[in-house]
Amino acid sequence: MHPTNSLARMIESCALAILLGAGTLAAAGQSAPAKPENKPQAKLQAAAPASAREWWKNAVIYEIYPRSFQDSNGDGIGDLNGITARLDYLKELGVDAIWLTPCFPSPLVDFGYDISDYKKIDPQYGTLADFDRLVAEAGKRHIRVLMDMVMNHSSDKHEWFQQSRSSRSNAYRDWYVWRDGKGQTATDKGVPPNNWQSYFGHSAWEWDETTRQYYYHKFYIQQPDLNWNNPKVHEAFKDIMAFWLKRGVGGFRFDAITTLYEDPAMTDEGIVKDKDGNPVINAYGDPQLDDTKTNNQPGVHPVMQEMRAAVDKFSTGAYPGTRVVIGETYLPNIGELAKMYGPKGKPEFHLPMDTQVAMINKMDIAAFRSKLTDVETQIGGHVPLLLFDNHDNPRIDLRYGDGVHDEAIQRVLSTVLFASRGAALFYYGDEIGMKTTPPTRKEDVKDPIGITGWPKEKGRDGERTPMQWDATANSGFTRGTPWLPVPPNATTVNVEAEKSDSASLFAWYKSLIHLKKTNLAFAHGDNVMLDTDNSKVLSWLRKAPGAPTVVVAANFTADPQTVSLAVPGSTGKLKTLLKSPGAAEPASLTSIELGPFEVFIGEVK
Ligand code: NOJ
Repeated sequence: MHPTNSLARMIESCALAILLGAGTLAAAGQSAPAKPENKPQAKLQAAAPASAREWWKNAVIYEIYPRSFQDSNGDGIGDLNGITARLDYLKELGVDAIWLTPCFPSPLVDFGYDISDYKKIDPQYGTLADFDRLVAEAGKRHIRVLMDMVMNHSSDKHEWFQQSRSSRSNAYRDWYVWRDGKGQTATDKGVPPNNWQSYFGHSAWEWDETTRQYYYHKFYIQQPDLNWNNPKVHEAFKDIMAFWLKRGVGGFRFDAITTLYEDPAMTDEGIVKDKDGNPVINAYGDPQLDDTKTNNQPGVHPVMQEMRAAVDKFSTGAYPGTRVVIGETYLPNIGELAKMYGPKGKPEFHLPMDTQVAMINKMDIAAFRSKLTDVETQIGGHVPLLLFDNHDNPRIDLRYGDGVHDEAIQRVLSTVLFASRGAALFYYGDEIGMKTTPPTRKEDVKDPIGITGWPKEKGRDGERTPMQWDATANSGFTRGTPWLPVPPNATTVNVEAEKSDSASLFAWYKSLIHLKKTNLAFAHGDNVMLDTDNSKVLSWLRKAPGAPTVVVAANFTADPQTVSLAVPGSTGKLKTLLKSPGAAEPASLTSIELGPFEVFIGEVK
C-alpha cells in the first residue's frame, strides 16, 4: 500500500485488508409519501416512471463532505444551502445521487461521525428546513440525497450514552458495551477486559469512573459502540431511518458496518507478526492486531437483512423509486463482499462498496484484471459498486499517481469506474483532479488521528480540503476563513477553468458519465475482458443485446503501446466514442495506439 498514512492503511493492515439509458435519465428524484410536510417530493412521486426502481443499478453517486463543499454564510464551513446552490453543477456533471457524510448534531470529534442526535441537522450545516429544501431541489433535478447512517457507535454526548453511563441500572445501560476490567476489585479498576484496540489508536476500552466499568469503542473514546445484541437498538435505528425516508431521502450509506458486533467470548485478538516473527507496530505505536474478534462477525448479516427490509418498505406501494442501501464494506476478499448482498430471498446491501478494486492502490494491471473479473464472476450477478476515493483515504494522486502523469492516470481510473458494469461512486473534486494536501505541521492538524499518529499518521485533512470552484481567494468555497486551507493549486485546478476547457479532466468525467447513461452497452451491457495476457494495456468489451458492442482500451504504463484486439464477427473498424485528449485515431481494432496512460473507447463495427 502507498506509504501515505490513512484509515485504509490501518484497516487494510488490520486484516480487513479491512437504467438504463433514457429510463434513468427520466427517472424521478426523491419519492416520498404524500404527507403535507413532503409536498415537493409528493409531486415528483406522481411523475416517477417504473424504471425509477432500477435507478441504482447504473447509478452515478457523488460523495459530498458537507464541511468542505460550499459555504453559503461565510463562516468558513460548508453547509446544506451551499450544496443546494451547487445542484445545477451536479446535474450538469450527470450524477444520480449525492451521498452526504454526516451532518447531524455532533461534538465533531470525528467531524460528524460522532452523532449526538440522529433526527436533527447540526446548526453549522443548517436546519431541517434547509435539508428539506435540498431534497426537494435535488429531486427537481432527478438527484437523490443519500444520508450517512452511523450505527456502530454514537457520540458520548448522545442522550442514550449519557443515560447509559449514569448508573448500572439505567434503562439505557445495555445500549452500549460495558464490562468489568480484568482483575478489577472494589478499589482497583484492574486492566481493560482484553487487548482489543481502537482503529484510532490504543485500547478500545475506556474506564468510566461513575459506574466503575469499561466501555468499548472501536473508534474514538468519544464514540462508544452501541450494543447490537439489544433489540431496542435495532428499533431505534429503524425509527431513525423511517424519519429520514419520510423526508424523501433516497437511501443510506451504512458506516463502519462490519464492526457492529464483537465476538461474545471477548478473548484477545492475535498479534500480527512480520516475516521474522516480530510484532508489527502500527502508526500509533501499538502492536497490530488481527481484527478477528471485532470485525466482520456473523451477526452483521441478520441485522443487515432486518435493516434492508425496513428500508424496502419505503420502496414499494406509495413509495416508488428504490431507496438504496450502500455499505462501507472494507473486507478481506471478494467472497466476503459477495456475502454482503445477502442470501437468496434475504437481501442485505444493494451496493456494498467494492474496496477490493478501490484499494489496489497502484497501477497494477494484473490486479485490476483479476479483481474486475472477480466482480463479474464472484458476486452472483449482483450489481457492483466501484469507487476509488473517499474522505478517509489520500486522494487518487497519492495512491495511484506517479507525479508526472497524474491526470492521465486519473483518466484511466475514471474509465474503469464509469465504463465497467454497475454503479459508480466518486468523491467531490475528483472530477477536477484535486490533489491530497496534507498538513505540514502538527499544530495545523484538525483530524484527531493525525494528532495521535503524527508524524506517521497525518490524519485525513489532506483529502478533505475545500472544493476548488474558481481561482478567487478561497477558491469560491467561502467568503470567510476556510476551516481547512485551500490548496495552492486551486488557482489553476478549479471548476471554472476546467469547464471552459474541452480537454480538461472535468470534461472527461462529464463525457464518461454521459456515455454511461446514454450508451446502451455502457448502461447495461456485460463486461468481457479482452487480450488477457497483455501486461501493459487493459482492454474490455461492453456488450448488450441489440446494441453495438463497445471496446475500451487503457494503457497502464508510462510508455506508448500498440494493442491489437480481436472481436469475433467484427470488421475491425471502429467508431470513436471517447479518447484521451491528443490520442491518435485508431486505424482499426488490430492497431490501437495509446500514449502514456491513454484511453480509447469506441464502437466495434
Ligand atoms: C468510517 C468513516 O468513513 C470515517 O470517516 C469515520 O471516522 C469512521 N467510520 C467512524 O465512524
